Amino acid sequence: MKLSPFYLVTLLGLATAAQERFSYDGYKVYSVTINSIQEAELLDVFSYDQRFDFWSKHRIVGKPIDVMISPSGQDEFESTLNYHNIKFEVMINNFEEKVQAQYNRLKSRARVDSGDVSFTEYMRHDEINAYLRRLEADYPNVVTTEVIGKSFEGRDLLIIKISSGGSDKPTIFADAGIHAREWIAPSTALYVINQLVEVPENSYLYENVDWVFIPVANPDGYEYTHDVERMWRKTRSTGTICFGADPNRNFGYHWGASGSSTWQCSDIYAGHRAFSEVETQALRDYLSAHSHHISLYVAIHSYGNWVLYPWSYADLLPDNADELQTVGMLYNDAVNEYNGNSYIVGNSAALLGTTAGCSDDYARGGLDIKLSYTLELPGGSTDGFDPPESDILWIVEEAWVGFKAWHGYVESSSANSSK
Ligand code: ARG
Ligand code: ZN
Repeated sequence: MKLSPFYLVTLLGLATAAQERFSYDGYKVYSVTINSIQEAELLDVFSYDQRFDFWSKHRIVGKPIDVMISPSGQDEFESTLNYHNIKFEVMINNFEEKVQAQYNRLKSRARVDSGDVSFTEYMRHDEINAYLRRLEADYPNVVTTEVIGKSFEGRDLLIIKISSGGSDKPTIFADAGIHAREWIAPSTALYVINQLVEVPENSYLYENVDWVFIPVANPDGYEYTHDVERMWRKTRSTGTICFGADPNRNFGYHWGASGSSTWQCSDIYAGHRAFSEVETQALRDYLSAHSHHISLYVAIHSYGNWVLYPWSYADLLPDNADELQTVGMLYNDAVNEYNGNSYIVGNSAALLGTTAGCSDDYARGGLDIKLSYTLELPGGSTDGFDPPESDILWIVEEAWVGFKAWHGYVESSSANSSK
């Protein structure tokens, strides 16, 4: 066939137009209840196969494990589970319908006014950065923002520091949005920031303690989940056959030791070397310059109601495991008293299986930050990663209660140690 020049121009136009959305037609989400650790290990075998996307993964008998499976993997999965007598339920019958409904809501929402914040919508990256910069403009004595680097696609990696002044005060540092699809994590960082900065009664919380946040640590991935593929998890760097690495398997402490993949297309691809990703490099450089006064590190993720502490790379405990457990429980106890919800607090490798190259291990081991956690926020019940927009507020309010409990510990322990 001979193409007319007109036709060619049209084709080129299409190629540069917005990328078509990935369809999850026929994808099912299964909820599996395991009765033994052996059953959890049997499920692990599937997690190295692209067709099986583990939305949750753990070793707790009786707690469901959620897996999204493409149409081609479903028969195999069901027959394996039936053969081993493992109970499962179909939690979402056609994930595309959920995604479609969500995209329709996103399309019709008004943009958040420049500089404002919303806890009834998931904000886009540019809206989030506009908010952080507006806070800096309005509260110059308390707020500073800093671009610590650029993402692979050139977006600003923006951190925000909240401080009453002075240098080297004990600091609480949080990364959020390192996993692209966990939209509730940036919202949570934003809410804590919002409460600290914009509610005058809360100013006591940054009197003796500084707070630093990177609300969207993986902005390319975050934007990609809005535009193209809802369940994208990794960065968007170009590989030879697949895009991106899992930034939370890319940190340089026992990198690649376990629970990550050397296969580019895997969702837990560790990258071709530690800190191969510009996003984790930027975090590493910022953190290593400031780690001596960071008292508590928290990686904000979703979902599953966990407060996890190192090590993750192996089934081992750090020397201050007792303190990590006690302080982790403070988060749970505060939330529990507030609204009755609870978290499982414990060692990451023991509860979830090993995962090397995570930011919490790097903070604890690479930087010697004594208190280091991964917080897995509540999910959207049968919606998995997607709490509906109407659920954002209660989730972030709950987290705020937990963060205040952690602040209390950081403040009092630093006061005691300086005596
Ligand atoms: N869900 C998170 C992830 O897959 C955390 C897993 C546990 N690892 C950890 N380092 N706490 O990256
Ligand atoms: Zn995550």
